[in-house]
Amino acid sequence: MKRAVLDELEKILGQERMSTKTADLYVYGFDASIHHKTPHVVVRPKDAHEVSEIVKLANRIRTPIIPRGAGTAMCGHTVPLKGGIIVDLTQMNKIKEVRIEDLYCVVEPGVVYDKLNAVLGKHGFWFPTSPGSGEACTIGGMVATNASGMRAIKYGATRDYVLGLEVVLPTGEIMHTGTRTLKNSSGYQLDRLMVGSEGTLGIVTEITLKLAFKPKASAMTLAAFDSLYDAGKCVSNIIKRPLMPSAIELMDSVCIKAVNKCMNVGLPDKAAILMIEVDGHPAAVEDELKIVEEICRQSGAVSTEPTRDKKRIDFWTYSRKAIMPALSRYGEKFVSVALADDMSVPISKIPEAVVAFQKIAERNGVVIGTYGHSADGNLHTKMLVEPFSQDSWRRGEKAVTEIFDKVIELGGTVTGEHGVSITKAPYMQKERADSIETMRRIKKALDPKNIMNPGKMFEWQGSIIAHLRYPAFSERAAPASVVDQEEHRACSK
Ligand code: MLT
Ligand code: ZN
Repeated sequence: MKRAVLDELEKILGQERMSTKTADLYVYGFDASIHHKTPHVVVRPKDAHEVSEIVKLANRIRTPIIPRGAGTAMCGHTVPLKGGIIVDLTQMNKIKEVRIEDLYCVVEPGVVYDKLNAVLGKHGFWFPTSPGSGEACTIGGMVATNASGMRAIKYGATRDYVLGLEVVLPTGEIMHTGTRTLKNSSGYQLDRLMVGSEGTLGIVTEITLKLAFKPKASAMTLAAFDSLYDAGKCVSNIIKRPLMPSAIELMDSVCIKAVNKCMNVGLPDKAAILMIEVDGHPAAVEDELKIVEEICRQSGAVSTEPTRDKKRIDFWTYSRKAIMPALSRYGEKFVSVALADDMSVPISKIPEAVVAFQKIAERNGVVIGTYGHSADGNLHTKMLVEPFSQDSWRRGEKAVTEIFDKVIELGGTVTGEHGVSITKAPYMQKERADSIETMRRIKKALDPKNIMNPGKMFEWQGSIIAHLRYPAFSERAAPASVVDQEEHRACSK
């Protein structure tokens, strides 16, 4: 990047809030995905005015510009594919207003999810979308991906709470969308367009969020099954009754074993478990817990363990959230990676989907852990690959393609909560075949110079195992080896 451009950035931000140091550029080339690419410069603006000046500069010199929150994105959203400017928004972390009487709050994009809920919780309210990375992820990142988590069945996703946004457009103009009222039918719902746009249409600099009441009580039961299919069937048996659990987390035996091995939590070592949470008025919670227990038994659960103890519920939830890192301890030579990681299927199709994923894993000689927010059909798989083996990555990619083909055949989507970016781009293009051209036109209308987070979603061409953070395809790569099912069984002991 030319010295003159860096000088202009320095005039906007000062030296302190920008960096071209090798170490900084290296770390800002990662997010939580499998990809890596180094940017040219990192900037840390403090307000919308500074963001606007940076974007105007990027627009003038046609340089890529990539907004970034905490870097918890799983598909390469903040990886600067074509280099350029990373805009780190974590210094814009003020909760500007909490208006309980009007049921909204106004926050900057760098506010961390759990920190916002700590403030709202004091008033008996919350922003309940519950992403797995809630301790670290930012509200801006959640808006960019329409993030959600385990409680979406009852409480919805980020888009259901966004009342309005302030957005710096690719020209540098500052636009306000939506309102501070709970209802609005006033023109195009541009905030809806921005939610889930993954930094390709502008940079969100302020978010107005609707507040929800915190439930007074909650309870959970841990139901164990000898068959993954039965556990999947139990989910739809619960959902088709007129009761509304706040979460049903499914874990297959690979995930159970990995979490037990890593954290020694003593989850039932069975083919599958469901963690079913109900919340609301204490009397309703008791009533619903009873019905849930009954359905579990009728659906083939071999054991259930109900609890109203908040510490126990938090502990189980914590062990569920630990699945992804725990899977990396499943076998010494594997790492757990986000490939085919957050598809959604119609709820009644869960049993068929989870069994199909297992067959695909076996057929391709890979290990897959299946888990997820099954109450709303949102399933996670994490693939265990040997990071140095090209063959392992190639088999993984083949399995991903087969998984997504199955998901699309079942009427599902390739991403329920993490978004598209790089890792899901070819499959999203398949899923959205007849609307992709409209997306392209919208992008072109708002960002004709294609500076905002370029090269992703509908622009991505080719394999998803490109720009890997692992050295499989570099000269440090190990010779290919095959993971056989014997080895899988050995790991699972
Ligand atoms: C979660 O459910 O914990 C997150 O979506 C991350 C993941 O495990 O894929
Ligand atoms: Zn999740």
